[in-house]
Amino acid sequence: MRKEVILITGANGEIGHGLITYLAQHCSTPILALDVQPIDEDIAKLCSRFILGDIMDQMLLGRLVGEYEIRTIYHLASILSTKAEYNPETAHRINVEGMLNLLRMAVEQSQWQTNPVKFIYPSSIAAYGFPNVAAKTAAGKITEDQWTFPTTMYGCNKLYCEHLGRYYSRHYKQLASGELYENRVDFRCLRFPGLISAFTTPTGGTSDYGPEMLHHAAAGEPYKCFVRPDTTLPFMVMPDAVKSLIQLEETPRQNLSQLVYNVTSFSPSAQDFYKYVLSAFPKAEISFDPDKKRQGIVDSWPADLDDSAARKDWGWKPDYGEKASFEEYLIPVIRQRYQK
Ligand code: SER
Repeated sequence: MRKEVILITGANGEIGHGLITYLAQHCSTPILALDVQPIDEDIAKLCSRFILGDIMDQMLLGRLVGEYEIRTIYHLASILSTKAEYNPETAHRINVEGMLNLLRMAVEQSQWQTNPVKFIYPSSIAAYGFPNVAAKTAAGKITEDQWTFPTTMYGCNKLYCEHLGRYYSRHYKQLASGELYENRVDFRCLRFPGLISAFTTPTGGTSDYGPEMLHHAAAGEPYKCFVRPDTTLPFMVMPDAVKSLIQLEETPRQNLSQLVYNVTSFSPSAQDFYKYVLSAFPKAEISFDPDKKRQGIVDSWPADLDDSAARKDWGWKPDYGEKASFEEYLIPVIRQRYQK
């Protein structure tokens, strides 16, 4: 008999850390973790098995189908927006072909199961794209189907992967005779704002100025913020990001009126961030030194998201607003971490 597991790709990343910690405490299904990087000891011990491997390795994924009964996949592995611009074609291969490999694996898995395989996928504010700051400011909160004109390779990849998820859920091999492929993959996707964790810093993102400012200040290291003080993006803390993934996974399919949902919490400017950080760490050495090109990417992303569909369909509501995110989660936890 194959062993039932939850598969998490990109397990050693920011979201992976938060999600594995949560699942290990609240869910009895064992976790199969996959990452191209060795996994940190603190989360390795929470997983039933860790595989050091690549989502591009189709042989590896094929072997997993033979060995495990995978009912839920959290496909977190991705090359983020800044890193992707240094080698867009490689990023495309990992982000899109990697996704394709996982979706194909989900279809294969589902042939051995009665229920469709749940495929939970984090998309991003990078799927949006404004031509200039004036348009961004005028637009305010935007819904899932507005302004989807990404300017980064990462954003293009995320938007296209959302379409792939829909295709594999509803239209895969639609001309095949006999066997019906519909409903083999139960694809569910969140468009995340910038995420901030008290435990890890992201690698290679463009919303990273927020978390970097905070972690540098706590570590007593100077930080040059690469965007202007007035730059505004939506953000959310990791406990809320994990909560949204879990809630979306648990919602009965019939309650979901769409496949892709915005979720968000608060929209601080970089100056607001600076104020919170400085009030907690008065000796922090933070300066603003905008990088024109990275600024351009952030300026193309929305300042706020309309997440009313998630609120209506599955009762989404963040636990941490702006003040609580800093005062009840980020600052106390980070302070304790760096004091050790
Ligand atoms: N945090 C991501 C990035 O900056 C956006 O989803 O690339």
